[in-house]
Amino acid sequence: MTDLWGGRFTEGMDETLRRFSSSLHVDCRLAKEDLIGSRAHARALMGAGILDQDSFAAIDDAISTIIEQVDDGSFPYGVAWEEIPEDIHSAVEARLVELCGETGRRLHAGRSRNDQVVTDVMLWLKTASVELEAAVRSVQEALVSKAEEYQSLVIPAYTHLQRAQPVLLAHHLLAHYEALKRDVTRLVDARNRADRCPLGAAALAGSSIPLDREATARQLVFSRVAINSMDAVADRDWAIEFVGCCALIMTHLSRLAEELVLWSSQEFGLAKIADRWTTGSSAMPHKRNPDVAELVRGKASRVHSGLQTLHSLLKGLPLTYNRDLQEDKEVLFDATDTTTDCARVLASALEQTAFFELRSVGPDFSSAMDLAEELVRRGVPFRRAHESIGNLVRNCENSCRGLPDVTDEELIEFGLEGIDRALLTPIGSIRAKKTLGSTAPDQVASQLAAARLEISE
Ligand code: ARG
Repeated sequence: MTDLWGGRFTEGMDETLRRFSSSLHVDCRLAKEDLIGSRAHARALMGAGILDQDSFAAIDDAISTIIEQVDDGSFPYGVAWEEIPEDIHSAVEARLVELCGETGRRLHAGRSRNDQVVTDVMLWLKTASVELEAAVRSVQEALVSKAEEYQSLVIPAYTHLQRAQPVLLAHHLLAHYEALKRDVTRLVDARNRADRCPLGAAALAGSSIPLDREATARQLVFSRVAINSMDAVADRDWAIEFVGCCALIMTHLSRLAEELVLWSSQEFGLAKIADRWTTGSSAMPHKRNPDVAELVRGKASRVHSGLQTLHSLLKGLPLTYNRDLQEDKEVLFDATDTTTDCARVLASALEQTAFFELRSVGPDFSSAMDLAEELVRRGVPFRRAHESIGNLVRNCENSCRGLPDVTDEELIEFGLEGIDRALLTPIGSIRAKKTLGSTAPDQVASQLAAARLEISE
Protein backbone atom coordinates (compact mmCIF):
# COMPACT_ATOMS: atom_id res chain seq x y z
CA MET A 1 0.00 0.00 0.00
CA THR A 2 1.24 3.48 -0.77
CA ASP A 3 0.59 6.52 1.37
CA LEU A 4 -2.14 9.01 0.50
CA TRP A 5 0.58 11.53 -0.33
CA GLY A 6 4.03 11.25 -1.91
CA GLY A 7 4.51 13.83 -4.64
CA ARG A 8 6.57 16.20 -2.58
CA PHE A 9 8.43 13.56 -0.54
CA THR A 10 11.79 12.08 -1.37
CA GLU A 11 11.44 9.00 0.81
CA GLY A 12 8.70 6.87 2.34
CA MET A 13 7.61 7.06 5.95
CA ASP A 14 9.79 5.50 8.60
CA GLU A 15 8.32 2.16 9.61
CA THR A 16 8.37 3.15 13.29
CA LEU A 17 6.46 6.35 12.57
CA ARG A 18 4.00 4.38 10.47
CA ARG A 19 3.23 2.08 13.35
CA PHE A 20 3.20 4.92 15.85
CA SER A 21 0.80 7.04 13.86
CA SER A 22 -1.61 4.40 12.61
CA SER A 23 -5.06 4.49 14.20
CA LEU A 24 -6.43 1.57 12.24
CA HIS A 25 -6.71 -0.67 15.30
CA VAL A 26 -9.13 1.89 16.78
CA ASP A 27 -10.94 3.40 13.80
CA CYS A 28 -11.43 0.10 11.92
CA ARG A 29 -14.89 0.04 13.50
CA LEU A 30 -15.79 3.04 11.33
CA ALA A 31 -15.41 1.03 8.11
CA LYS A 32 -19.12 0.96 7.29
CA GLU A 33 -19.62 4.64 8.07
CA ASP A 34 -16.58 5.49 5.95
CA LEU A 35 -18.06 3.57 3.02
CA ILE A 36 -21.50 5.11 3.39
CA GLY A 37 -19.96 8.58 3.65
CA SER A 38 -17.80 7.84 0.60
CA ARG A 39 -20.85 6.86 -1.40
CA ALA A 40 -22.56 10.16 -0.53
CA HIS A 41 -19.42 12.06 -1.48
CA ALA A 42 -19.14 10.17 -4.79
CA ARG A 43 -22.72 11.21 -5.55
CA ALA A 44 -21.86 14.82 -4.73
CA LEU A 45 -18.88 14.60 -7.10
CA MET A 46 -21.20 13.28 -9.82
CA GLY A 47 -23.58 16.17 -9.14
CA ALA A 48 -20.67 18.58 -9.49
CA GLY A 49 -19.67 17.05 -12.84
CA ILE A 50 -16.42 15.53 -11.51
CA LEU A 51 -17.48 11.89 -11.77
CA ASP A 52 -19.40 10.63 -14.79
CA GLN A 53 -22.19 8.12 -14.33
CA ASP A 54 -20.03 5.11 -15.19
CA SER A 55 -17.32 6.11 -12.74
CA PHE A 56 -19.92 6.69 -10.06
CA ALA A 57 -21.45 3.28 -10.77
CA ALA A 58 -18.02 1.60 -10.55
CA ILE A 59 -17.30 3.26 -7.20
CA ASP A 60 -20.81 2.54 -5.97
CA ASP A 61 -20.44 -1.17 -6.86
CA ALA A 62 -17.04 -1.40 -5.22
CA ILE A 63 -18.48 0.21 -2.08
CA SER A 64 -21.24 -2.41 -2.00
CA THR A 65 -18.64 -5.16 -2.33
CA ILE A 66 -16.52 -3.74 0.46
CA ILE A 67 -19.57 -3.32 2.72
CA GLU A 68 -20.27 -7.03 2.20
CA GLN A 69 -16.67 -7.81 3.07
CA VAL A 70 -16.89 -5.70 6.21
CA ASP A 71 -20.11 -7.48 7.16
CA ASP A 72 -18.80 -11.00 6.60
CA GLY A 73 -15.43 -10.22 8.19
CA SER A 74 -13.36 -10.67 5.02
CA PHE A 75 -12.33 -7.02 4.63
CA PRO A 76 -8.56 -7.20 4.94
CA TYR A 77 -8.03 -4.00 6.96
CA GLY A 78 -4.29 -3.75 7.43
CA VAL A 79 -3.16 -7.32 7.29
CA ALA A 80 -3.21 -7.90 3.55
CA TRP A 81 -0.99 -4.94 2.80
CA GLU A 82 2.75 -4.81 3.31
CA GLU A 83 2.43 -1.53 5.13
CA ILE A 84 -0.14 -0.73 7.78
CA PRO A 85 -2.63 1.84 6.48
CA GLU A 86 -2.60 5.05 8.50
CA ASP A 87 -6.28 4.79 9.29
CA ILE A 88 -9.56 3.30 8.12
CA HIS A 89 -9.99 6.05 5.53
CA SER A 90 -6.70 5.07 3.86
CA ALA A 91 -7.57 1.39 4.08
CA VAL A 92 -10.97 1.88 2.45
CA GLU A 93 -9.57 4.10 -0.28
CA ALA A 94 -6.78 1.60 -1.01
CA ARG A 95 -9.35 -1.18 -1.31
CA LEU A 96 -11.46 0.94 -3.65
CA VAL A 97 -8.45 1.51 -5.88
CA GLU A 98 -7.74 -2.24 -5.83
CA LEU A 99 -11.33 -2.90 -6.93
CA CYS A 100 -11.91 -0.15 -9.48
CA GLY A 101 -8.44 1.04 -10.47
CA GLU A 102 -7.89 4.62 -11.63
CA THR A 103 -11.54 5.49 -11.05
CA GLY A 104 -11.05 4.84 -7.35
CA ARG A 105 -8.40 7.54 -7.34
CA ARG A 106 -11.02 10.13 -8.31
CA LEU A 107 -13.00 9.83 -5.09
CA HIS A 108 -10.93 12.01 -2.79
CA ALA A 109 -11.49 15.20 -4.85
CA GLY A 110 -13.27 17.87 -2.81
CA ARG A 111 -12.77 15.95 0.39
CA SER A 112 -10.18 15.65 3.13
CA ARG A 113 -9.79 13.13 5.88
CA ASN A 114 -10.52 16.08 8.14
CA ASP A 115 -14.18 16.30 7.13
CA GLN A 116 -14.29 12.58 6.38
CA VAL A 117 -13.31 11.46 9.88
CA VAL A 118 -15.82 13.75 11.60
CA THR A 119 -18.56 12.58 9.25
CA ASP A 120 -17.75 8.94 9.96
CA VAL A 121 -17.77 9.37 13.72
CA MET A 122 -20.95 11.44 13.67
CA LEU A 123 -22.65 8.73 11.62
CA TRP A 124 -21.40 6.14 14.13
CA LEU A 125 -22.66 8.28 16.98
CA LYS A 126 -26.25 8.22 15.70
CA THR A 127 -26.46 4.44 16.13
CA ALA A 128 -24.29 4.24 19.23
CA SER A 129 -26.38 6.83 20.99
CA VAL A 130 -29.62 5.01 20.18
CA GLU A 131 -28.11 1.78 21.55
CA LEU A 132 -26.95 3.54 24.71
CA GLU A 133 -30.37 5.09 25.16
CA ALA A 134 -32.00 1.65 24.89
CA ALA A 135 -29.57 0.29 27.48
CA VAL A 136 -30.34 3.11 29.92
CA ARG A 137 -34.05 2.57 29.33
CA SER A 138 -33.57 -1.11 30.21
CA VAL A 139 -32.28 -0.05 33.63
CA GLN A 140 -35.33 2.20 34.01
CA GLU A 141 -37.54 -0.73 33.02
CA ALA A 142 -35.87 -2.97 35.62
CA LEU A 143 -36.33 -0.30 38.30
CA VAL A 144 -40.01 0.07 37.49
CA SER A 145 -40.56 -3.69 37.41
CA LYS A 146 -38.94 -4.10 40.82
CA ALA A 147 -40.92 -1.15 42.20
CA GLU A 148 -44.11 -2.84 41.00
CA GLU A 149 -43.07 -6.20 42.40
CA TYR A 150 -42.28 -4.76 45.86
CA GLN A 151 -44.73 -1.90 45.95
CA SER A 152 -45.48 -2.11 49.68
CA LEU A 153 -42.05 -3.09 50.99
CA VAL A 154 -40.66 -0.67 53.59
CA ILE A 155 -36.96 0.11 53.82
CA PRO A 156 -34.93 2.64 55.79
CA ALA A 157 -33.75 5.70 53.89
CA TYR A 158 -30.51 7.33 54.91
CA THR A 159 -28.81 10.66 55.15
CA HIS A 160 -25.14 10.61 56.15
CA LEU A 161 -25.61 6.83 55.98
CA GLN A 162 -27.55 7.09 59.24
CA ARG A 163 -31.10 5.78 59.29
CA ALA A 164 -33.27 8.79 58.59
CA GLN A 165 -36.86 8.06 57.59
CA PRO A 166 -38.64 4.95 56.39
CA VAL A 167 -39.72 4.89 52.73
CA LEU A 168 -41.25 2.45 50.33
CA LEU A 169 -38.59 0.57 48.35
CA ALA A 170 -40.59 1.55 45.27
CA HIS A 171 -40.03 5.21 46.14
CA HIS A 172 -36.29 4.66 46.42
CA LEU A 173 -36.09 2.78 43.12
CA LEU A 174 -38.12 5.47 41.40
CA ALA A 175 -35.60 8.06 42.60
CA HIS A 176 -32.99 6.27 40.49
CA TYR A 177 -35.53 6.09 37.67
CA GLU A 178 -35.87 9.90 37.69
CA ALA A 179 -32.11 10.44 37.45
CA LEU A 180 -31.88 8.10 34.46
CA LYS A 181 -34.87 9.79 32.86
CA ARG A 182 -32.95 13.08 32.86
CA ASP A 183 -29.95 11.25 31.41
CA VAL A 184 -32.05 10.03 28.51
CA THR A 185 -33.28 13.55 27.74
CA ARG A 186 -29.68 14.80 27.84
CA LEU A 187 -28.63 12.04 25.48
CA VAL A 188 -31.41 12.83 23.03
CA ASP A 189 -30.55 16.52 23.23
CA ALA A 190 -26.85 15.84 22.55
CA ARG A 191 -27.80 13.55 19.68
CA ASN A 192 -29.98 16.23 18.10
CA ARG A 193 -27.25 18.84 18.41
CA ALA A 194 -24.73 16.46 16.82
CA ASP A 195 -27.07 15.89 13.90
CA ARG A 196 -25.09 17.98 11.41
CA CYS A 197 -23.09 16.95 8.37
CA PRO A 198 -19.45 18.07 8.11
CA LEU A 199 -18.86 16.63 4.63
CA GLY A 200 -17.96 19.28 2.05
CA ALA A 201 -15.95 21.29 4.58
CA ALA A 202 -12.98 19.49 2.99
CA ALA A 203 -9.61 20.29 4.60
CA LEU A 204 -10.94 23.42 6.34
CA ALA A 205 -11.91 26.10 3.83
CA GLY A 206 -14.51 24.28 1.75
CA SER A 207 -13.92 23.22 -1.84
CA SER A 208 -13.61 24.86 -5.23
CA ILE A 209 -15.66 21.95 -6.57
CA PRO A 210 -19.36 22.93 -6.34
CA LEU A 211 -20.48 20.12 -4.03
CA ASP A 212 -24.10 20.26 -2.93
CA ARG A 213 -23.56 19.96 0.81
CA GLU A 214 -27.24 20.01 1.60
CA ALA A 215 -27.96 17.10 -0.72
CA THR A 216 -25.10 15.16 0.88
CA ALA A 217 -26.46 15.88 4.35
CA ARG A 218 -29.90 14.66 3.28
CA GLN A 219 -28.45 11.53 1.76
CA LEU A 220 -26.67 10.71 5.00
CA VAL A 221 -29.85 11.48 6.96
CA PHE A 222 -28.35 14.42 8.82
CA SER A 223 -30.86 17.17 9.63
CA ARG A 224 -28.51 19.95 8.62
CA VAL A 225 -25.07 20.93 7.38
CA ALA A 226 -22.29 21.86 9.84
CA ILE A 227 -22.20 25.31 8.32
CA ASN A 228 -18.80 26.83 9.02
CA SER A 229 -16.19 24.73 7.25
CA MET A 230 -13.50 25.51 9.83
CA ASP A 231 -15.75 24.71 12.75
CA ALA A 232 -16.89 21.55 10.96
CA VAL A 233 -13.40 20.02 11.00
CA ALA A 234 -12.13 21.50 14.30
CA ASP A 235 -15.17 20.95 16.49
CA ARG A 236 -15.34 18.04 18.89
CA ASP A 237 -18.11 19.45 21.14
CA TRP A 238 -20.31 16.57 20.13
CA ALA A 239 -17.75 14.08 21.44
CA ILE A 240 -17.40 15.94 24.73
CA GLU A 241 -21.16 16.23 25.11
CA PHE A 242 -21.65 12.58 24.38
CA VAL A 243 -18.91 11.41 26.74
CA GLY A 244 -20.33 13.92 29.25
CA CYS A 245 -23.66 12.12 28.97
CA CYS A 246 -21.86 8.81 29.45
CA ALA A 247 -20.02 10.19 32.50
CA LEU A 248 -23.23 11.28 34.17
CA ILE A 249 -25.01 8.04 33.33
CA MET A 250 -22.07 6.19 34.89
CA THR A 251 -22.28 8.36 37.99
CA HIS A 252 -25.93 7.42 38.32
CA LEU A 253 -25.35 3.73 37.60
CA SER A 254 -22.48 3.75 40.06
CA ARG A 255 -24.63 5.17 42.86
CA LEU A 256 -27.21 2.49 42.21
CA ALA A 257 -24.45 -0.13 42.09
CA GLU A 258 -23.01 1.14 45.36
CA GLU A 259 -26.38 0.66 47.00
CA LEU A 260 -26.61 -2.87 45.67
CA VAL A 261 -23.20 -3.57 47.22
CA LEU A 262 -24.21 -2.08 50.56
CA TRP A 263 -27.67 -3.57 50.58
CA SER A 264 -26.45 -7.06 49.81
CA SER A 265 -24.09 -7.04 52.80
CA GLN A 266 -25.17 -9.03 55.84
CA GLU A 267 -25.18 -5.78 57.80
CA PHE A 268 -27.88 -4.23 55.60
CA GLY A 269 -29.58 -7.41 54.43
CA LEU A 270 -31.92 -5.48 52.15
CA ALA A 271 -31.06 -7.16 48.85
CA LYS A 272 -29.92 -10.48 47.49
CA ILE A 273 -28.60 -10.66 43.94
CA ALA A 274 -29.36 -14.06 42.35
CA ASP A 275 -26.54 -16.62 42.27
CA ARG A 276 -26.10 -16.35 38.51
CA TRP A 277 -25.36 -12.65 38.89
CA THR A 278 -22.93 -13.01 41.79
CA THR A 279 -19.44 -14.42 42.05
CA GLY A 280 -17.69 -16.61 44.58
CA SER A 281 -14.32 -16.40 46.23
CA SER A 282 -11.38 -18.57 45.20
CA ALA A 283 -10.36 -18.76 48.85
CA MET A 284 -13.42 -18.42 51.07
CA PRO A 285 -16.02 -21.06 50.26
CA HIS A 286 -18.90 -19.20 51.87
CA LYS A 287 -18.61 -15.95 49.91
CA ARG A 288 -21.18 -14.49 47.49
CA ASN A 289 -19.82 -11.28 46.08
CA PRO A 290 -21.67 -8.49 44.25
CA ASP A 291 -18.81 -8.10 41.72
CA VAL A 292 -21.23 -7.01 39.03
CA ALA A 293 -22.13 -3.87 40.98
CA GLU A 294 -18.53 -3.25 42.05
CA LEU A 295 -17.38 -3.43 38.44
CA VAL A 296 -19.98 -0.89 37.36
CA ARG A 297 -18.78 1.38 40.17
CA GLY A 298 -15.16 0.83 39.13
CA LYS A 299 -15.74 1.36 35.43
CA ALA A 300 -17.41 4.71 36.13
CA SER A 301 -14.00 6.15 36.91
CA ARG A 302 -12.69 5.17 33.47
CA VAL A 303 -15.55 6.93 31.75
CA HIS A 304 -15.07 10.01 33.96
CA SER A 305 -11.41 10.21 33.06
CA GLY A 306 -12.39 9.91 29.39
CA LEU A 307 -14.30 13.16 29.71
CA GLN A 308 -11.25 14.79 31.28
CA THR A 309 -9.07 13.42 28.47
CA LEU A 310 -11.26 15.01 25.80
CA HIS A 311 -11.28 18.40 27.51
CA SER A 312 -7.52 18.47 27.85
CA LEU A 313 -7.12 17.17 24.29
CA LEU A 314 -9.08 20.13 22.96
CA LYS A 315 -8.23 23.04 25.18
CA GLY A 316 -4.87 23.97 23.66
CA LEU A 317 -5.57 23.20 20.02
CA PRO A 318 -5.56 26.04 17.53
CA LEU A 319 -8.19 25.83 14.81
CA THR A 320 -8.57 23.69 12.78
CA TYR A 321 -7.60 20.03 12.47
CA ASN A 322 -4.60 18.82 14.45
CA ARG A 323 -3.45 15.25 14.54
CA ASP A 324 -3.98 15.20 18.30
CA LEU A 325 -7.66 14.81 17.45
CA GLN A 326 -7.01 11.25 16.39
CA GLU A 327 -6.92 10.44 20.11
CA ASP A 328 -10.60 11.33 20.52
CA LYS A 329 -11.96 8.09 19.16
CA GLU A 330 -10.37 5.67 21.59
CA VAL A 331 -11.94 7.62 24.44
CA LEU A 332 -15.29 8.04 22.73
CA PHE A 333 -15.57 4.36 21.80
CA ASP A 334 -14.45 3.17 25.21
CA ALA A 335 -16.82 5.49 27.09
CA THR A 336 -19.74 4.46 24.89
CA ASP A 337 -19.01 0.73 25.04
CA THR A 338 -18.42 0.81 28.78
CA THR A 339 -21.54 2.80 29.57
CA THR A 340 -23.76 0.72 27.31
CA ASP A 341 -22.36 -2.50 28.77
CA CYS A 342 -22.72 -1.34 32.35
CA ALA A 343 -26.33 -0.29 31.81
CA ARG A 344 -27.21 -3.62 30.21
CA VAL A 345 -25.50 -5.65 32.89
CA LEU A 346 -26.92 -3.67 35.78
CA ALA A 347 -30.43 -3.95 34.34
CA SER A 348 -30.09 -7.74 34.21
CA ALA A 349 -28.60 -7.97 37.70
CA LEU A 350 -31.37 -5.80 39.08
CA GLU A 351 -34.04 -7.97 37.48
CA GLN A 352 -32.44 -10.90 39.30
CA THR A 353 -32.36 -9.24 42.71
CA ALA A 354 -34.68 -9.95 45.63
CA PHE A 355 -35.39 -7.24 48.21
CA PHE A 356 -36.22 -7.58 51.89
CA GLU A 357 -38.19 -5.67 54.46
CA LEU A 358 -36.60 -3.20 56.87
CA ARG A 359 -35.03 -5.03 59.78
CA SER A 360 -34.81 -3.59 63.23
CA VAL A 361 -31.25 -2.83 64.27
CA GLY A 362 -32.03 -1.65 67.75
CA PRO A 363 -34.65 0.86 68.85
CA ASP A 364 -36.55 2.52 66.01
CA PHE A 365 -36.86 6.29 65.83
CA SER A 366 -37.94 6.57 62.25
CA SER A 367 -41.11 8.57 62.92
CA ALA A 368 -39.41 11.29 65.01
CA MET A 369 -39.92 13.98 62.37
CA ASP A 370 -43.56 13.02 61.90
CA LEU A 371 -44.12 13.37 65.65
CA ALA A 372 -42.56 16.83 65.60
CA GLU A 373 -44.89 17.71 62.71
CA GLU A 374 -47.83 16.37 64.75
CA LEU A 375 -46.88 18.85 67.50
CA VAL A 376 -46.68 21.59 64.87
CA ARG A 377 -50.22 20.71 63.78
CA ARG A 378 -51.19 21.18 67.44
CA GLY A 379 -49.80 24.71 67.40
CA VAL A 380 -46.22 24.20 68.68
CA PRO A 381 -43.51 26.16 66.81
CA PHE A 382 -41.32 23.69 64.88
CA ARG A 383 -38.08 24.52 66.74
CA ARG A 384 -39.81 23.79 70.08
CA ALA A 385 -41.38 20.62 68.68
CA HIS A 386 -37.97 19.45 67.40
CA GLU A 387 -36.45 19.95 70.84
CA SER A 388 -39.31 18.25 72.62
CA ILE A 389 -39.23 15.13 70.42
CA GLY A 390 -35.44 15.15 70.81
CA ASN A 391 -35.98 14.89 74.55
CA LEU A 392 -38.45 12.06 74.04
CA VAL A 393 -35.88 10.21 71.90
CA ARG A 394 -33.27 10.71 74.64
CA ASN A 395 -35.68 9.29 77.25
CA CYS A 396 -36.25 6.25 75.05
CA GLU A 397 -32.57 5.75 74.33
CA ASN A 398 -31.74 5.85 78.02
CA SER A 399 -34.09 2.93 78.57
CA CYS A 400 -33.26 1.01 75.35
CA ARG A 401 -36.65 1.66 73.78
CA GLY A 402 -37.73 3.05 70.45
CA LEU A 403 -40.61 5.39 69.58
CA PRO A 404 -43.08 2.52 69.06
CA ASP A 405 -42.47 1.67 72.75
CA VAL A 406 -43.32 5.05 74.31
CA THR A 407 -45.91 4.85 77.06
CA ASP A 408 -49.27 6.61 77.00
CA GLU A 409 -48.03 8.71 79.94
CA GLU A 410 -45.06 9.87 77.86
CA LEU A 411 -47.39 10.74 74.99
CA ILE A 412 -49.37 12.96 77.36
CA GLU A 413 -46.19 14.42 78.87
CA PHE A 414 -44.88 15.37 75.41
CA GLY A 415 -48.12 16.86 74.18
CA LEU A 416 -49.06 13.92 71.97
CA GLU A 417 -52.12 12.71 73.86
CA GLY A 418 -54.70 10.93 71.72
CA ILE A 419 -52.24 10.34 68.86
CA ASP A 420 -52.86 7.32 66.63
CA ARG A 421 -50.11 4.97 67.83
CA ALA A 422 -49.64 3.80 64.23
CA LEU A 423 -47.82 7.08 63.65
CA LEU A 424 -45.05 5.76 65.92
CA THR A 425 -44.18 2.99 63.46
CA PRO A 426 -42.33 3.05 60.13
CA ILE A 427 -45.40 2.29 58.03
CA GLY A 428 -47.38 4.92 59.97
CA SER A 429 -44.66 7.43 59.18
CA ILE A 430 -44.91 6.55 55.48
CA ARG A 431 -48.71 6.79 55.45
CA ALA A 432 -48.60 10.16 57.23
CA LYS A 433 -46.89 11.88 54.30
CA LYS A 434 -49.11 14.38 52.52
CA THR A 435 -46.95 16.05 49.89
CA LEU A 436 -46.73 15.61 46.15
CA GLY A 437 -43.89 13.27 45.21
CA SER A 438 -43.53 11.92 48.74
CA THR A 439 -43.23 8.31 49.83
CA ALA A 440 -46.95 8.15 50.77
CA PRO A 441 -48.37 4.97 49.18
CA ASP A 442 -50.82 6.86 46.93
CA GLN A 443 -48.06 9.20 45.77
CA VAL A 444 -45.71 6.31 45.02
CA ALA A 445 -48.51 4.53 43.17
CA SER A 446 -49.06 7.51 40.92
CA GLN A 447 -45.30 8.02 40.32
CA LEU A 448 -45.10 4.35 39.46
CA ALA A 449 -48.05 4.48 37.08
CA ALA A 450 -46.55 7.52 35.35
CA ALA A 451 -43.17 5.79 35.04
CA ARG A 452 -44.75 2.64 33.64
CA LEU A 453 -46.58 4.71 31.06
CA GLU A 454 -43.43 6.63 30.11
CA ILE A 455 -41.32 3.55 29.50
CA SER A 456 -43.98 1.72 27.57
CA GLU A 457 -44.32 4.68 25.19
N1 ARG B 1 -6.85 9.28 11.51
C1 ARG B 1 -7.11 10.69 11.53
C2 ARG B 1 -7.97 11.02 12.75
O1 ARG B 1 -8.49 10.15 13.31
C3 ARG B 1 -7.84 11.09 10.30
C4 ARG B 1 -7.60 12.47 9.83
C5 ARG B 1 -6.19 12.66 9.42
N2 ARG B 1 -6.02 13.91 8.75
C6 ARG B 1 -4.84 14.37 8.49
N3 ARG B 1 -4.79 15.45 7.85
N4 ARG B 1 -3.77 13.71 8.83
O2 ARG B 1 -8.10 12.16 13.15
